[in-house]
Amino acid sequence: MPLDSFHRDINYLRISLTDRCNLRCQYCMPLHGLTFVPDPELLTAEEIEKVVRAAAGIGFRKFRLTGGEPTLRPDLIEITRRIAGVSGAHDLGMTTNGMLLERLARPLKEAGLKRVNVHVDSLNEERVKKLMRFVDLDNVWRGIRAAEAAGLLPVKLNAVVARGYNEDDVVELARLTVANDWQMRYIELMPLGSGPEAQFSIDRYVSNVETKRKIEAALGTLTPLENADPSDEAVNYRLPGARGVIGFISPVSEPYCGTCNRMRLTADGKFHLCLLHDDELDVKKILRGGGTVADIQEVLNLAITAKPTGHGLAIGVHTQNRKMHQIGG
Ligand code: 5AD
Ligand code: SF4
Repeated sequence: MPLDSFHRDINYLRISLTDRCNLRCQYCMPLHGLTFVPDPELLTAEEIEKVVRAAAGIGFRKFRLTGGEPTLRPDLIEITRRIAGVSGAHDLGMTTNGMLLERLARPLKEAGLKRVNVHVDSLNEERVKKLMRFVDLDNVWRGIRAAEAAGLLPVKLNAVVARGYNEDDVVELARLTVANDWQMRYIELMPLGSGPEAQFSIDRYVSNVETKRKIEAALGTLTPLENADPSDEAVNYRLPGARGVIGFISPVSEPYCGTCNRMRLTADGKFHLCLLHDDELDVKKILRGGGTVADIQEVLNLAITAKPTGHGLAIGVHTQNRKMHQIGG
C-alpha cells in the first residue's frame, strides 16, 4: 500500500491523455496564446500501459482518463483496452466534455471503461455557450444518453459554478437528479495558471455554501448521504424523493487535502504531485531510456513520498506553470 509521508494511501492515478480540447471554458483555457505538447512528446498507448502496470503493481486501484479532452486522442480505445487489461486496474473512469461521446460510448464500454463524468455547466444553451465556449448542448446530451445506454454507470455530471454566468442554473441541474439516477456535482472555481482563466476563477468564484443554499431553497432540504468511498472528494446529498445524488466538491471553501489519494500523470509524461503545486517528476525520460516497470515504480514511489499536503489557495499560492487543461483536473 503506497502511503505518503502523511500516511495517506495514494491509490488513484489520473492520466491526462492530451492537453488539447475542442472547447475553451473560460476558467480553463484562454482563446489565444496557447501552446500544446507536440505529438512525439505525448506518452504512447504502450507507455501509458507500462505506467499503469507499474502503478497497479504497487497498489494503485483507481484510474481515470482525463485531458484536456481525452476523446480527442485517436488511440483512445486502444489505450482503454490496454489499461483495462492490466491486473488490478479494472476501476477505470473517464472525465469528458461529452462532445464526442455519442459514437465512443459503446466501444469504450467494450474496451473496459467503467464510467464517465461529463462536464456540463448549465442546461441553458445561451448561457452555457458563454461559459463553455464552442459547446453544443445537443451533442453533449446525445453523449450522456449514449453513455447511459452503454452501461457506463453511474453517470456523473460536473458543473463549475461561475458568478454572473450560471450561478442560478444550479437549480435546474439539481432537478435532473429527481427522475434520473445520476450524480450532479458542483465544483468551486480554482485559480490555476497565471492567465485570464486564473483571474476569471478568482473574480467569478461562488462558494458551494451558497450553491447548496440556493438548491435547498428551490427544491427542498438535502439529506446527507454516507460517503461510500472515503476518498471521494464530493460531499453527497439527496433531494426529497430523488433517485440521484447531489455532490459538492469544495476545494476552496473546504479543502480535502487531508484525504487526497491521487497522483496525476501529465500527457507529456510527468508525475504531477498536487493539482495546486508545480512539483513534478519525469517518468517519460525513464520510459524512453529503456526503464523497466521497477524503474517506473521507483520514480512513482519518490513522487508519492514528495506529495505535499495542504494547498495554499487561501493565501494565494497555486500552480503557476500549468493550466487545468494541462493537468486534467
Ligand atoms: N476550477 C475548477 N475546476 C475546473 N475544471 C477546469 N477548470 C477548472 C477550474 N478553474 C474542471 C472541469 C473539468 C475538469 C477537467 O476540471 O470540471 O471537468
Ligand atoms: Fe476543455 Fe474541460 Fe477545460 Fe472546458 S474544462 S476547456 S471542456 S478541458
